[in-house]
Amino acid sequence: MTSTRQRILSGAKPTADSLHLGNYIGAVRQWVDMQSEYDPVFFIPDLHAITVDFDPVELAKRTRIVAAQYIAAGIDPDKSIFFVQSHVPEHAQLAWALNCITGYGEAARMTQFKDKTAKAGSDAATLGLFAYPSLMAADILLYQADLVPVGEDQRQHLELTRTLAQRFNSRFGETFKVPQATILKSTAKIYDLQNPAAKMSKTGESPNGAIQLLEDPKTAAKRIKSAVTDDGTEIRFDAEAKPGISNLLTIYATLTNRTIADLEEAYQGKMYGHLKTDLAELMVEFLTPLRARTNELMSDPAELDRLLARGAGRARDIASVTLASVYDRIGFLPLSGGR
Ligand code: AMP
Ligand code: TRP
Repeated sequence: MTSTRQRILSGAKPTADSLHLGNYIGAVRQWVDMQSEYDPVFFIPDLHAITVDFDPVELAKRTRIVAAQYIAAGIDPDKSIFFVQSHVPEHAQLAWALNCITGYGEAARMTQFKDKTAKAGSDAATLGLFAYPSLMAADILLYQADLVPVGEDQRQHLELTRTLAQRFNSRFGETFKVPQATILKSTAKIYDLQNPAAKMSKTGESPNGAIQLLEDPKTAAKRIKSAVTDDGTEIRFDAEAKPGISNLLTIYATLTNRTIADLEEAYQGKMYGHLKTDLAELMVEFLTPLRARTNELMSDPAELDRLLARGAGRARDIASVTLASVYDRIGFLPLSGGR
């Protein structure tokens, strides 16, 4: 019975031509692992994608790519409710209501907003970017999610979501479940291969810093081989003194389901080069089928769209119930007697 299971919910924005390894290890892989034990909702936050500069043609293409990558990575549209955010209008509707209980200062304190504004300049920042976290809260609260598996960078947004849920509940009556973030410590952050002080991201400085799940596996292997490593020769996990090697060990351990301790033992007395060569090979083995499956799914966009439409229908069945109760509690007049 799905109803007795805890609900998990998450999503990754369609803002690049491919998800990267950080998205996979920090997020998607956890979703796949949790899919069978929980009641899963996974979606593609395209409304969030337009809070920064975007191109309409690219956005549509990227939304399908991310959808295909979710499935190729193991999200099963039969087990999970799987859809595109803009197909479910309740997200924007609930976000508006939440905007009206979110403080201006509260939103202005979000570090992701501050970072993005600092980079783009405050004139380039839009109201949409400012309201990003209350839209994210709406995504989560509409489905009464228990757990939200995300990377470390989303912790603050989750805190705000909890605050808004509690605030709404205490002002208007119990309406929302207060969700919890699920952030796995060991893999919460995958670092840039060229600059292990920064997280791997879509916007890293060097293209060699990130591995794109859709890139030629041989290129990915080269990026692993040219990853920046640390002084010394010993292969040992030490995030402070050896951030480069530690990052490679984390990636290696996740892809093979081995422990770091096991890898440290296996590589005792070996050189950094050995580790990199093995990990480069692993990367090719990991990416090759993933890429083939993604391309196969992309070659049939009608089928992909059909799966997404089915997911949107299932999502709306849940979201519309929550939104109706929110509207009622707020005091919006019911639309009665037909149109
Ligand atoms: P985004 O593409 O920004 O929507 O991110 C999708 C998911 O990937 C979120 O849960 C992020 O926290 C996670 N994520 C992004 N970059 C990394 C990284 N370098 N390491 C671990 N998780 C990440
Ligand atoms: N903000 C998330 C990110 O950048 C994406 C996202 C939007 C999300 N809505 C969400 C994640 C709801 C989890 C739950 O990664």
